[in-house]
Amino acid sequence: KLMKVFITRRIPPEGAKLLSQAGVCEVAQWDSDEPVPRAELLKGVKGAHGILCLLSDKIDAELLDAAGPNLKVISTLSVGFDHMAMDEIKKRGIRVGYTPDVLTDATAELTVALLLAAARRLPEGVEEVKNGGWSSWKPLWLCGYGLSGSTVGVVGLGRIGLAIAKRLKAFGVKRTLYSGRTAKAYAGEVGGEFVPLDTLVAESDFVVVSCSLTPDTKGMCDQAFFSKMKKTAVFVNSSRGTVVNQEDLYQALSTGQIAAAGLDVTTPEPLPTDHPLLTLKNCVVLPHIGSATYSTRGVMAELSARNLLGGLQGTDMPSELTF
Ligand code: GLV
Ligand code: GLV
Repeated sequence: KLMKVFITRRIPPEGAKLLSQAGVCEVAQWDSDEPVPRAELLKGVKGAHGILCLLSDKIDAELLDAAGPNLKVISTLSVGFDHMAMDEIKKRGIRVGYTPDVLTDATAELTVALLLAAARRLPEGVEEVKNGGWSSWKPLWLCGYGLSGSTVGVVGLGRIGLAIAKRLKAFGVKRTLYSGRTAKAYAGEVGGEFVPLDTLVAESDFVVVSCSLTPDTKGMCDQAFFSKMKKTAVFVNSSRGTVVNQEDLYQALSTGQIAAAGLDVTTPEPLPTDHPLLTLKNCVVLPHIGSATYSTRGVMAELSARNLLGGLQGTDMPSELTF
């Protein structure tokens, strides 16, 4: 008898193909680009042996109870897993798959693009070209901050943080600082200096947040944090929006406490179009597209399908989250 799988969204075809070819499960899917309404999700997972979900699906006790005792595996199409109640999942003996590594390069590239966009004021420039504000080449116009000779601070030197630091090095960064729970042996690859967060924040020209969202990092970037930054420094976040206190960031940006910010993640997502941060010229906000290359999303879909199959069949999962 075929096992039941629920996929919470339309995903790249590579994933669905693997699942149908395996011949071990029948797939039900919310086949839309838009999120599944909660009630439909709770209905859809009923009796499922496996769930393939996204970071926008809240996997909590209510959902696990709605799925019921068949559930063996949850495979998320993301590297982040802060949307899942891990203690509840563990209690029920459910395995979890995720997609580390395959999105590291794409996310690092996007983070560098975002940093440069904020530091060199690209969206402002594009806007001026379109609205007729480009009247001539002006020596003092649209000046920003460059990476060459600068100090970069990476908050959370994990896989993605390291990949960002490597790429920034190529721009002539002089010092790379990093902070986190522990020093990393691989930090030598970028000449990274392990420093307390306060030191990193005070000495960096670019503060790049690349840590995971945990109770420790929730709201970490707050008024105290921004007030220690240089007035000329640029803040970049491509991890999770909730690491930042957005009211404090708004204050810091609007009062000139810091120079600019680039955010690929916000709270909530999507950010309402009337949000105060969107009124600021020195704040570049992207719609959480760190891993959004065609090939990366395809590989993520494949990996999440393989993880799901491993969990269904009780075999190895290529990327199992151990917790
Ligand atoms: C993206 O944010 C992810 O967690 O994969
Ligand atoms: C800029 O275009 C320059 O020639 O300096």
